Amino acid sequence: MSLPSILVTGGAGYIGSHVVLQLRARGERVVVLDDLSRGFRQAVIDAPLVVGKVGDRDTVTRVLREHAVDTVMHFAAYTIVPESVSEPLKYYGNNTCSTCTLLECCVGAGVRNFVFSSSAAVYGMPAEGSAAESTPTAPINPYGTSKLMSEWMLRDVASAAPLKYVALRYFNVAGSDPQCRVGQASPNATLLVKVACQAAVGKRAEVVIFGTDYATPDGTGVRDYIHVEDLATAHLDALRYLRGGGASTTLNVGYGHGYSVREVLASVERVSGKRLKVREQPRRPGDPPGLIARAERIRAELGWQPRYDDLDAIVRTALAWEQRLLSDPWK
Ligand code: UD1
Repeated sequence: MSLPSILVTGGAGYIGSHVVLQLRARGERVVVLDDLSRGFRQAVIDAPLVVGKVGDRDTVTRVLREHAVDTVMHFAAYTIVPESVSEPLKYYGNNTCSTCTLLECCVGAGVRNFVFSSSAAVYGMPAEGSAAESTPTAPINPYGTSKLMSEWMLRDVASAAPLKYVALRYFNVAGSDPQCRVGQASPNATLLVKVACQAAVGKRAEVVIFGTDYATPDGTGVRDYIHVEDLATAHLDALRYLRGGGASTTLNVGYGHGYSVREVLASVERVSGKRLKVREQPRRPGDPPGLIARAERIRAELGWQPRYDDLDAIVRTALAWEQRLLSDPWK
């Protein structure tokens, strides 16, 4: 019987691949399950990879058994909000129904710890633009609803089986591994920091600002941008917490302050030394004016200590990653 492993679903994706690197750097045994529909084989580097779907009961059961998995970190999901609006069942199927199957397999295999990638999208449009864990959940798109339903399943499973969980509600993830080994590689990414860095390296002609008439200091949307390295560390903290006997919990992961679209673009110009061509357009449907984490709990409960709470530092790594992709595009 081998030592227990951590199953990382979606470990070939943007956030999962950063967590795999940190876990392995700490000497953890890891196995990745990814169907590579949106992830990249290169992102796994040389970690063990099983190509398959989280909703495939036979594959998941086999992996849990063969690798003696006692902890699951579940990243595999579709994440594009507008796509979730036009194809809701794709999101409920891949995000919610697959999580249900995964949880059934976990309970059957006696998995003890579960760390779940949730999202600030569960809050919808909170009053005053900030959300604590106690803020009522009110998702405004199928993506957010698909994540919230998974949170509810986890809560109920954990009260009926000896499985404990930490659900992490991510705010706006950005940046990449400072050593540029992995990063956000989707060619059609829509995330602001990525899009602006693509423009700075010449991959896009311009950046569009969606909405300049919000009731925010400069009229553009405000978000809590968090470095993917700090987000990844939150998962390792969650693991330590669960192993140490911590009770199941749901936590925001953000820095607790935000930047506007214009501030992000100014940072990209500052860091890259390039002037961006910017076009102003009407608001994007479904965008809240501001979304900032109330983020005290994760520091108190997990002892999380972010290291990259600095917009230019986030942008520097995102930009270095775009430069790497220019010479070595991932397919
Ligand atoms: C992201 C996540 C969403 C999560 C949310 C949490 C994805 C695809 N989206 O959405 O799942 O729930 O964070 O806060 O992972 N903007 C522009 N021009 C652009 C792109 C964006 O002006 O080209 C603006 C947007 O209107 C918004 C801000 O930049 O004000 C951030 O947008 P974006 O990076 O797309 O992230 P969210 O929509 O906040």
